[in-house]
Amino acid sequence: MAKTLRAKTLNDTLNTAPRRADIVEVAPRDGFQSINDPLPTEDKIRCIQSLLDAGITRLEIGSFVSPKAVPQMADIGEIVAAFVDRPDIRLAALIPNLKGAELALDSGIRELVFVVSVSEPHNQSNVRQSVADSLASFETIIERLRALDDQDRLRMRLDLGTSFDCPYAGRIDWQQVEAVLAPALEMTQGVELEVALCDTTGRATPYQVAEHFSRLGARYQDDRLSWAFHGHDTYGMGVANALFALQHGATTLDASTAGLGGCPFAPGATGNTATEDLVYALQDGQIDIGIDLPRLLEAADMIAALPGGQTASHLRHVPREKVPREKATRGNENERLG
Ligand code: COA
Ligand code: ZN
Repeated sequence: MAKTLRAKTLNDTLNTAPRRADIVEVAPRDGFQSINDPLPTEDKIRCIQSLLDAGITRLEIGSFVSPKAVPQMADIGEIVAAFVDRPDIRLAALIPNLKGAELALDSGIRELVFVVSVSEPHNQSNVRQSVADSLASFETIIERLRALDDQDRLRMRLDLGTSFDCPYAGRIDWQQVEAVLAPALEMTQGVELEVALCDTTGRATPYQVAEHFSRLGARYQDDRLSWAFHGHDTYGMGVANALFALQHGATTLDASTAGLGGCPFAPGATGNTATEDLVYALQDGQIDIGIDLPRLLEAADMIAALPGGQTASHLRHVPREKVPREKATRGNENERLG
C-alpha cells in the first residue's frame, strides 16, 4: 500500500513538472559587478566565451549603469560589441533608467532588463530614486520602445528587486510585490514581458517563493506574461528556491557560474545560485537545458580564478570524475511515467 502511494506521488511529481526552463547566465552582470577592481576587458570576454562554449544561450551580459556607481561596467560597450552579432545567443542588459536604455539600444542590445526594487530603501540605495520615480522612468522607456521601428525584435524584462526580503526593510510579502507590479503591468499593456521576482539577499525560503509565484501568477494570467526567478544562495536555498519557482509558474531561472557574486547594494548577500548546481538539479526533470556540465565547470574554474571574485558552488568541489558527462537534455515524452 505504502509502495503504491509512493509510486503514485512520483508519477504525479514527474507529470506536473515543467517541461521548459531557460537558464539565464548572470555572472557577467551580477557576478562581475561584485568585483571592485575593474577586470581587464579581454578576461571578461574570455570568460563569457567559455560560458557560451558550454552551451549557455541566454546571457545577461552586463549593465548600462553609471560608471561612478559600478566602475566594473565601464567597458560594457566593448563587451557587447564582442558578442552582439552572434545569432545563436540571446543577450540582455540591465538598465536603471532611460539613459541606460538608450545606450543599450545604441550598442545593439535588443533585450532590456529594467530594474526596480519593491522596497523603497533598497531602491534608493541601488538607483538613488524613489520606486515611483523608477516606475515613471520605466513608463517613458516603454513609450520610447513602442515608437521604434524594429519593435518585433525587442524584448523587455522587469526585474523586481527585493521581492522576498530587503536588507533594510526585512521580509517582503507578495502584496508588496503586487503594489509595484500592478502599475508596471498597466503601463505595458499588450507588450510581451518577462517578470522576474528577485531574491536579492538570498534569504527567501522555498515555500515563500512558491507563495509569491502562485499568488501573483493566479492574479495576473496573461499570455503576454512570463515569469522568472533570480536567486542568490546566501542561506543555501538557491537551488530549492529555483525548483519551487519552476514548479509554481516560472519558466526562466537566473544563475551565475561558479556562484560568482555578492551584491554591493545588498550588504551580506552572497552570489547567485551557481549555474552548475542548478543544471545538476534539473537533469532528471525531462527538461531540455542543453548545457554541458563538464564544460561549464571549465568555465567555472576560469571565473573562479578571477582576482577579487567571491565564489560559491557545490559541484565545482566534487571530484570531476563523479560529475555526469552527458548533456542535460529532454527525455522521450513517451517514456514519461503515466
Ligand atoms: N549609464 C551610464 N551613465 C549614466 C547612466 C547610465 N544608465 N545614468 C546616469 N549616468 C551618468 C550621468 O550622465 C551622470 O554623469 P556625469 O556625472 O558625468 O554628468 C552621472 O551618471 C550621474 O547621473 P544621475 O542621473 O545624477 O544619477 P545618480 O548619480 O543619481 O545615480 C544611477 C543614479 C541609477 C545612474 C546610479 O545609481 C546607477 O547607475 N545605479 C546602478 C546600480 C546597479 O547597477 N546596481 C546593481 C544592479 S541591480
Ligand atoms: Zn542579484
